[in-house]
Amino acid sequence: MSKPNVHILGTGSYAPEKVLNNADLMRMVDTTDDWITTRTGIKERRVAGPGVATSDLATPAAKAALEAAGLDVLDVDLILLGTATPDMLFPSTACVVQSNLGARNAAAFDLSAACSGFLYAVSVGKAFIESGTYRNALVIGAETLTNILNWEDRTTCVLFGDGAGAVVLGRADEEDKTGTGIHAIHLHSDGDLTKLLYMPAGGSRIPTSADSVEKKLHYVKMEGREVFKHAVKLMSTAMEETLADAGFTPADLDLLIPHQANLRIMEAVAKRLEIPNEKVFVNVDRYGNTSAASVPIALDEAVRSGRIKPGDLVGTVVFGGGFTWAAAAVRF
Ligand code: UT7
Repeated sequence: MSKPNVHILGTGSYAPEKVLNNADLMRMVDTTDDWITTRTGIKERRVAGPGVATSDLATPAAKAALEAAGLDVLDVDLILLGTATPDMLFPSTACVVQSNLGARNAAAFDLSAACSGFLYAVSVGKAFIESGTYRNALVIGAETLTNILNWEDRTTCVLFGDGAGAVVLGRADEEDKTGTGIHAIHLHSDGDLTKLLYMPAGGSRIPTSADSVEKKLHYVKMEGREVFKHAVKLMSTAMEETLADAGFTPADLDLLIPHQANLRIMEAVAKRLEIPNEKVFVNVDRYGNTSAASVPIALDEAVRSGRIKPGDLVGTVVFGGGFTWAAAAVRF
């Protein structure tokens, strides 16, 4: 069995107060509560609203994680932020958060891996700590996805929500024999499938113009059914291989935290891994798909509610645009 070098020292999360439920959406597009609930498991989602940016959600989530870790902000030497909805194209949202926190000793950058951004960022933080470059990394997944939704497109606008989650990573004590910490993380990508889930305009390929706005190219475009099929298969294999790499099997897991995109995807992944649904953490009903924020929000809720107890082995697995997907095995 592997010996982890990097621990999760604390978790935090934050979601905007405004709730948009399925009944509200029924007044906006041709949909029903029954369709959304049976196809996705989503009942409501949070919406940041006008003038609220991703850093406004990321900052309180980061503060909560630092407080839980008992770490002074000046001891943070790296801030990594996974997002598909940065405050602006540059500079990074991580730099805005660095300023908001007064984390004067930290390097800061964003990481773009869509819904997989949080685990990608955890992997980078872990590697930096293991290499000895940094001691304490603040890793955040934060999104205001509702800013890039076409509220006339019922195939996407019912699915997503806003929020942020964060963890503090730190180096394990050399003497620690408990096996606590991040045992393994595996990252994957397949850029051949980019156009199954993407936002076409606003970058260098199609810069923002009156024409790009008129053609509604600044919104999420998704081939839902195709994404679904790939997600189930690739999330299952990634979780399995990551556990195997650390010397575990799915049966060893106390809790599985899958990306909160769709309850049916989570149940299908659990079925493939032969994990009972009682061991699967679900909050998609209350948040919808918050992309890079989904797993860190779930992680924080699971820790604070006592669903994750000291000594528990937790598997987490994500999937998103790129395609990107990733899994991690963590002992708490
Ligand atoms: O976070 C990144 C990963 N993203 C995901 O994991 C999303 C993956 N995909 C999914 O979760 C599902 O594919 C969806 C929830 C997006 C769609 O569920 P589905 O069972 O794959 O439905 P579908 O796209 O095949 O659509 C079935 C029907 C269609 O009507 P027809 O063509 O059968 O007449 C759609 O037009 O449902 C219709 N439909 C809706 N009806 C009511 C699509 N959206 C809606 C809606 N309300 N909001």
